Amino acid sequence: MNKVLILDFGSQYTQLIARRVRELNIYAEIKPYNIEISWVQKYQPSAIILSGGPASTGDIGSPRPDLSIFELNLPILGICYGQQVLSTIKGGQVQNGDKREFGRAEISVDSCPLFNNLPNNFNVWMSHADKVTQLPNGFKVVAQTAHAPMAAIANDTDKIYGLQFHPEVTHGEHGTQIIKNFLVDIAGLKQDWSMANFRQQAIADIRAQVGSGRVLCAVSGGVDSSVVAKLLHEAIGDQLVCVFVDHGMLRLNEGAQVKQMFEQHFNMPIIYKDASELFLGKLKGVSDPEQKRKIIGNTFIEVFEAETKRLEADGKFEFLAQGTLYPDVIESVSFIGGPSVTIKSHHNVGGLPERMQLKLVEPVRELFKDEVRKLGLELGMAKEMIARHPFPGPGLAIRVLGEIEPDKVNLLQQADAIYIEEIKKAGLYDDIWQAFAVLLPCRSVGVMGDNRTYDYVCALRAVTSSDGMTADFYDFNHKFLSKVSNRIVNEVNGINRVTYDITSKPPGTIEWE
Ligand code: XMP
Repeated sequence: MNKVLILDFGSQYTQLIARRVRELNIYAEIKPYNIEISWVQKYQPSAIILSGGPASTGDIGSPRPDLSIFELNLPILGICYGQQVLSTIKGGQVQNGDKREFGRAEISVDSCPLFNNLPNNFNVWMSHADKVTQLPNGFKVVAQTAHAPMAAIANDTDKIYGLQFHPEVTHGEHGTQIIKNFLVDIAGLKQDWSMANFRQQAIADIRAQVGSGRVLCAVSGGVDSSVVAKLLHEAIGDQLVCVFVDHGMLRLNEGAQVKQMFEQHFNMPIIYKDASELFLGKLKGVSDPEQKRKIIGNTFIEVFEAETKRLEADGKFEFLAQGTLYPDVIESVSFIGGPSVTIKSHHNVGGLPERMQLKLVEPVRELFKDEVRKLGLELGMAKEMIARHPFPGPGLAIRVLGEIEPDKVNLLQQADAIYIEEIKKAGLYDDIWQAFAVLLPCRSVGVMGDNRTYDYVCALRAVTSSDGMTADFYDFNHKFLSKVSNRIVNEVNGINRVTYDITSKPPGTIEWE
């Protein structure tokens, strides 16, 4: 008990609902809107939230939840489409609007437990075309805006509520308080889900799953795999073997830093395999980005398998640990558009468990990225490791544009290190989602002292983003950029020109390849 079930009707904001709930220290899970009632009964949620979604309740075949969820006597909150669908089911009426109301709207609220501790008027975030026009049986209106006379509806007896607006979106005011009022005041949930609890539970679960089996874990130095490794080590000690494959395209000194974090800070051994020559050899002459990714993925598997075979002299491995996160496992519901196109085939070691006949251990598959970071802090990881910008699996291989050569990797490592050092010095690191340097596959003419130079060009990229799906360039002041540019050109022998990338995503991507 004491967990919330979120039924997903396809809204772009569904994951935000789960995050808001979890920020209140209440556990929440997202499932497709049509999940079977038998699953819900077994899961035993304490409350249900129906998400928004792009459909119209008037459309033929528009999504409906299993009607039996209304017979479980659970508190239910419908948001946007969720409000409309519950209204339709409960005998109300929804008008299909052809005009969309999008953005902030001032709401006035009546006395209702949903609005406990809130002012009478505040701004909410609207994003809808349809609206409820006739109340369902047993409901009353508890809030209105200029365009939405039924902005919130309530049935206090059955504890069923509907909101036209999106309390999960931070552009509106008091959204988290409204969700809290529903979950704590109305549904009576306790706010007792914490990372300390999660850690205890995860350790118990790992022990129960693994028994006395041996577990293999590929670590990259990134937050996810480091947290997984640390958690497993706490749970099963030396039944865990961590392998770090260095493909030679890491940031400056990164291999040594990762080794130090595990061995000195965590006091846990890792197998460090320097395979940089093998990787560089295989990448020689290759300039196509997707080809680079494939080669790196396959070579990683090759090296990892060979290491495993060697390590199996001490006993066979039964499990492979992976840092799978919650957004990867939510079964997404999509009603619009076709299957999404693969823009970049992200480096993954997906085929590995089947190939090696290993069972998966995925202890953070229920967590969002920011929660994994919190867990990392809870496990004693240094803040600097936790707050690190994301780094792609293929590393600098997709930042040295075109053909990769060891010298170019070296130039890029130096330029990147200067750039990041300056960003940290300026106190900007945590405001930026990702910052890195890119080495362009061309040379330009310059003049240094009395000499003409003909050297490489480096591009700097820094973006803000919340999930990497969309991004905007970071608006550095020019003084800062000129300082970085000066340092790179002066200190990195082989780069004589620096540019700054001001492309957003879309139309650009974050990486250049
Ligand atoms: P893009 O370039 O697609 O990047 O806008 C979005 C996010 O994904 C990261 N990225 C990768 N990560 N393997 C990875 O593990 C890859 O091949 C890869 N390509 C891009 C990128 O760094 C950004 O965080």
